[in-house]
Amino acid sequence: MGSEEITSTPESRSHFRQLMVIGLIASILGVVLGLLIDWWPTQATEEGERIDTLWDVLIIFSVPVFVLVQVVVLYCVWRYRMRPGDELRDGPPIHGNTKLEIIWTAIPAILLVALCSYSYVVLRDVEEADANAIGVRVVGQQFTWTFYYKDPSGRTFASPQLYVPTGRQVKFTVQSDDVIHDFWVPAFRLKIDAVPGINTSLRVTPKTVGEYPVVCAELCGIGHAAMRQTAHVVTPEEYQGFIERRGRPEGQEAEAGGGGAAPDGKAVFNDAGCGGCHALADAGTTGGTGPDLDEVLADQDAAFIEESIVDPDKEIAQGFSAGIMPGQFGQTLQPAELDALVKYLDEVSGK
Ligand code: CUA
Repeated sequence: MGSEEITSTPESRSHFRQLMVIGLIASILGVVLGLLIDWWPTQATEEGERIDTLWDVLIIFSVPVFVLVQVVVLYCVWRYRMRPGDELRDGPPIHGNTKLEIIWTAIPAILLVALCSYSYVVLRDVEEADANAIGVRVVGQQFTWTFYYKDPSGRTFASPQLYVPTGRQVKFTVQSDDVIHDFWVPAFRLKIDAVPGINTSLRVTPKTVGEYPVVCAELCGIGHAAMRQTAHVVTPEEYQGFIERRGRPEGQEAEAGGGGAAPDGKAVFNDAGCGGCHALADAGTTGGTGPDLDEVLADQDAAFIEESIVDPDKEIAQGFSAGIMPGQFGQTLQPAELDALVKYLDEVSGK
């Protein structure tokens, strides 16, 4: 018993033409839809442009493949479905079609090699080092990010918020103090794991002034979702101001004439991301990773509040454990900011 020779009939050729027309229309609709969908948040870096273009190219080539396969499957289910009386019949034994198999192997192989090569070129360009890059060290810690800069004199200082200027490459060196985190600014379009014991890095050239969320993209514990900060993309002049303001040696803030107004405690509370973990009615925050400040600080004095910020594990609120609150706020907040924050919490908690 040999296999039947499958020959095309006028009917099968007409089915094939129908299939191709439906597939073509569906592919065009799929690509148009894929390009119309606004997939990503605002894009704020030069690298982001290349990455968004790569995304669009991937849509253009991959959507038709997906759509064509689905169209063939659905068309065959409909066109060649079993009809009454077909129950005991079997289809002709088909032993392959060499021409078709070569086509459906070669086209995806060529597409894959081409898209991989293009992706590699984009990655290489995006990672290209600029000798003039600014270095920022990013440290992840349950459950906050801290950003370390060097001032013009080479002294390192820390900031709870990320500031980067437009028009200049920034090299982030990413580290972790405890578990694996992942440093991600969606508007920058790049992210990288923060792994204990090693340095990872990524480079971006910010181009659009604005404020963008910094998030953690690796499940790292109970406060993972609250491990957020703000990336400020500012003009080079504003960035210079930030470096000079924050980089000033301790104790000199008060002498800054003109711009030396006392910091606002509520702003410090928000900027340092306290509300990500703590509920505080006055600031409108509801974080539940750490104690409710209206409860635990209501009957406490300023000295206790300051100690709880600078040395959080010294006395732990009931129901919470040591090591949850980051211990570096004594360094990342400047003395005037710490004072303002303590004063603010003393005034508003439990009221
Ligand atoms: Cu850190 Cu998730």
